[in-house]
Amino acid sequence: MLPRCAISVCHVFVLVLCLSSAEDFDWTKNDHGSFYYGTFPAGFSWGAGSSAYQTEGAWDKDGKGLSIWDVFSHKKGKIQQNDTGDSSCEGYHKIKDDVGLMKELKLNHYRFSISWPRLIPTGIKSDHINEKGIQYYNELIDHLLENKITPIVTLYHWDLPQFLQERYGGWQNISMVNHFNEFANLCFERFGNRIKYWMTFNNPWSVAVEGYETGEHAPGLRLRGTGAYKAAHHIIKAHAKVWHTYDTQWRAKQKGLVGISLSGDWGEPVDITNQKDIEAAERYVQFYLGWFATPIFHGDYPQVMKDFIGRKSVQQGLGTSRLPSFSPQEKSYIKGTCDFLGVGHFTTRYITQKNHPSARSSSSYFTDRDLAELVDPRWPDPGSEWLYSVPWGFRRLLNFVKSQYGNPMIYVTENGVSEKMLCTELCDDWRIQYFKDYTNEMLKAIKDGVNVKGYTAWSLLDKFEWDEGYSERFGLYYVDFRNKNKPRYPKASVQFYKRIISSNGFPNQREVENWRRKAVETCSTSNQLLAADPLTSHMEMVTEIVVPTVCTLSILLSAVFLMFLLRRRN
Ligand SMILES: *[C@@H]1O[C@H](CO)[C@@H](O)[C@H](O)[C@H]1NC(C)=O
Ligand SMILES: *[C@@H]1O[C@H](CO)[C@@H](O)[C@H](O)[C@H]1NC(C)=O
Repeated sequence: MLPRCAISVCHVFVLVLCLSSAEDFDWTKNDHGSFYYGTFPAGFSWGAGSSAYQTEGAWDKDGKGLSIWDVFSHKKGKIQQNDTGDSSCEGYHKIKDDVGLMKELKLNHYRFSISWPRLIPTGIKSDHINEKGIQYYNELIDHLLENKITPIVTLYHWDLPQFLQERYGGWQNISMVNHFNEFANLCFERFGNRIKYWMTFNNPWSVAVEGYETGEHAPGLRLRGTGAYKAAHHIIKAHAKVWHTYDTQWRAKQKGLVGISLSGDWGEPVDITNQKDIEAAERYVQFYLGWFATPIFHGDYPQVMKDFIGRKSVQQGLGTSRLPSFSPQEKSYIKGTCDFLGVGHFTTRYITQKNHPSARSSSSYFTDRDLAELVDPRWPDPGSEWLYSVPWGFRRLLNFVKSQYGNPMIYVTENGVSEKMLCTELCDDWRIQYFKDYTNEMLKAIKDGVNVKGYTAWSLLDKFEWDEGYSERFGLYYVDFRNKNKPRYPKASVQFYKRIISSNGFPNQREVENWRRKAVETCSTSNQLLAADPLTSHMEMVTEIVVPTVCTLSILLSAVFLMFLLRRRN
């Protein structure tokens, strides 16, 4: 009886917290303010990010095992243009080049992920450890440290060993918890003397929803209404287990931190005077970021998730909720397993209340939320279909994290914008605008008291964008994927981001405008150079045939002309 009482007292407390945090966000005043000139706290860490499958290539080199993304991308019709990450940016062979680019940007940190099947080909540690994989990450880490760039490492950026998918059903199976823990433990053992910032998972929302609910991502399963919840449940347990492993076995010696990187869009009520819309917007965020953050910080799923999924399950005639539950022991084991929170954020939605019927056939994560997502057509939308630039949403999300989870230490792990480009474009003013406005909203959030310690621009390079293949480019550096060498070229945003980093913020309007002007000036020349690249190679090919013909013709013509002139003289 007593724990139950404690829980309901806790509910009231959480509710009060939610209500007061709702006031913090100032729902009733939609004034998004003007640009704020000022600097970030001393020691603020600036970085850029990547992930293994998106950039490494070398998918079958040096004893690497298959991941679910190798297999998924090789199936026709899953990825735009049937692209694969087989070679991608060839990052596996370009450690020195890429660290060179980071130096050019003067980055303080670099965020990358370790490919589980590159280290453990089947995913099961007792089967085999691939020393060549270990060697690759050793080189990368050492080279970063030699250049005074702090490595921030993600252990799981979506590339589950295929063997674990086939044998156990991947994250549908609780056995992943132990296999992942063994992999993480191997990483702590081999790299932990040099790595001080670990993240267990990157964006588990996407793993669960797109991998096991919609099937747009590997492993491509469509287990609507149950698959995502189950996958997430095991991921949360795996995260907690790895945190405890570090805490008990490595922390004293290695003195590092273990967190998780969660992604979340911000949800803003369509009608800020309508209580139903305010609740729907809150639900949107709770079903997104809160799904993972609430168990990790408070020990259990958000109450709205338990209520909504539970009620719908009953209406469908199910005996238990489709949302699994944690035992009291599990709750206390999971609670507080986060030394810092990684936040990935790209965009915002307007949210309104919308009831979905709870027929069993149509049940899904999306209908469980009883809401509809809307966008403002005036929001800039330069690249990916889903990515609208709404900088003020970032500040709100960061404030939400502060008020909901006890003001944890935050590293922004992903923030950036893509472009849909069929031709080469290095003058990315819209990316400059996006970075400028989003980092400025982050600065305002820090002034609001949010504990943000670092920012990671997403991403260092153009790379394989999952189901979108190479059709969307998030990079600060342009990668020419048609060229076997995968050469990198700086976009204008490199120049601009570099200035933000060296000034640790925004000194004044004149200077910031100046940065922008200079960045765009330099890119137009490099743009011409790059544009001329394929043209010159094309010309070489043609000249072989054309030059002799043209030469002969001109000699003939001049002879005729000369004869004509001589005749007239006579
Ligand atoms: C991808 O592969 C499928 C199946 O072979 C084919 O029908 C489709 O046209 C391919 N798409 C492209 C863009 O090549
Ligand atoms: C998990 O894996 C075990 C061992 O292969 C298997 O017996 C069990 O059915 C799996 N569970 C699920 C939910 O797939």
